[in-house]
Amino acid sequence: MSFIFEYLKHPRRIGAIAPSGKCLSRKMMQPIDFTSAEVIVEYGPGTGSFTNHLVAEKNPDTSLILIEQNEHFCRQLNNKYGDMENVHIIHGYAEDVETYLDEYGFEHADYIISGLPFTSLPEEVSDRILTATISAMGDAGRFITFQYSLVKRHFFEQYFNITNYLREFRNLPPAYVLVMKSRGE
Ligand SMILES: C[S@@+](CC[C@H](N)C(=O)[O-])C[C@H]1O[C@@H](n2cnc3c(N)ncnc32)[C@H](O)[C@@H]1O
Repeated sequence: MSFIFEYLKHPRRIGAIAPSGKCLSRKMMQPIDFTSAEVIVEYGPGTGSFTNHLVAEKNPDTSLILIEQNEHFCRQLNNKYGDMENVHIIHGYAEDVETYLDEYGFEHADYIISGLPFTSLPEEVSDRILTATISAMGDAGRFITFQYSLVKRHFFEQYFNITNYLREFRNLPPAYVLVMKSRGE
C-alpha cells in the first residue's frame, strides 16, 4: 500500500502504482555477471523489488550502492538491508551518483541498475541523471533499465549504445529491459 500512497503524493517521481514483479526483476539481473562485479549501483530501489535479487545473487564482497530519493522508501530499505555488509543505502539523488561512488572509494560502477521512471521525470532531470551515469560507468560499465515501450529508445541513444533488448511478457504491463554501454567517444 505504501507504494500507492507515495505515488499519489509524488506521481512523477514515483512513476508507478505498484512495485515491479518477480519476473521483470529476474530479467533485470540477467545481463549482470555477478562473479566479476565489484560495485553495483541501483537507482530508485523503491521497496526493493530488484534489490532482493541483487542481495541474493551478488558476491558478498561486491559493494551495492542503493540511491533512493524518497524518505519513506529509504526507511523501508534500511529496515530490510541496513545490517548487510557492503550494502550502502543513500537517501539522495541518482544525479549525484559520482559523489557517492567517490565516497565509497570507487571510480566507476560495473553495473548501474535503474528503476527510475524516465517516462514521467522532467526531461532536464533525466538529462542530468544520464549525463552523470555516463561518467559513473566509465567505458566498461553497463546501464540496465526497463521501459514499458520503446518510445524513449532514441532518447537513450543520445547518451549510450543500446547493446541488448530483453522482453518480459510476464509483467503487467509487459516490459523491455534495455542494456546500454558507453558510446566510447
Ligand atoms: C517506479 S519506482 C521503482 C521502484 C522499484 N525499483 C521497482 O521497480 O519496483 C521509481 C523509484 O525511483 C525513485 N526516484 C525517482 N527519482 C529519483 C532520483 N532522482 N534519484 C533516486 N531515486 C529516484 C522513486 O522514489 C521510486 O522509488
